[in-house]
Amino acid sequence: MKKIVVANFKMNKTSFETLEYISSFNKLLPKNLDCQVAICLPYTSLFLGENFNKQIIIGAQNLSEHEQGSNTGEISASMLEDLNVKLVIVGHSDRRKHASETNEKINKKIKIALKHGFKVVLCVGETKAQRFAKRTKEVLKKQVESALCGIYENELGSIIVAYEPVWAVGTGTIAAISEISNAAKIIRETISSIFSSKAASNLQIVYGGSITSQSCKQIFKNKEISGALVGASSLDPKEFVKIINC
Ligand code: PGA
Repeated sequence: MKKIVVANFKMNKTSFETLEYISSFNKLLPKNLDCQVAICLPYTSLFLGENFNKQIIIGAQNLSEHEQGSNTGEISASMLEDLNVKLVIVGHSDRRKHASETNEKINKKIKIALKHGFKVVLCVGETKAQRFAKRTKEVLKKQVESALCGIYENELGSIIVAYEPVWAVGTGTIAAISEISNAAKIIRETISSIFSSKAASNLQIVYGGSITSQSCKQIFKNKEISGALVGASSLDPKEFVKIINC
């Protein structure tokens, strides 16, 4: 399975700053990448996506669960298609927390994203309190089951599950290898019970949460993991290219 590295810019960079980023990033990027790289820009910078080196997959950080209509402030799948977006992040912990995204809403978003042909990065992960209460398994299982309710096995090739423990996102604390392996095992067991063991072993699982160019090596060594979702460290082109090359 080819490694995939996904950048999540979150609410960072104006369009001018994005252009500056693209210019340095393209110069630093190797000519022939041996992994897939996606960059999820804020909506307001997506129109600049075409300036990235052609090896880069352009992604969005969210999409509406509705096709169109009275949804002030929302962005639809068709609008993203218009901007040549190929991948969307769904269920990021920021959105679960600050935009009250429920598992049901996330399921609707995944369905609409698949209908429009996007690759989906589905984020799952337990909070600090859930971790201390030893509820990680229950939480991950529930998140995966409800997000994928009504999804067909042959659609799983378009879904990447990102294990992002909430306590590790944006905190500078990275999960231990054993915790990541344990989470990947839970995710695969869940996929196996809903779909099949083949679907479970083929599933792409990536890790996200405070990854840096220092810590990426240990993450990528883990055979359970086929890549990374990178927030803060993706905002500096030099640092992000180091992670891509890692
Ligand atoms: P971080 O963010 O790398 O800054 O922890 C990861 C993410 O939110 O996807």
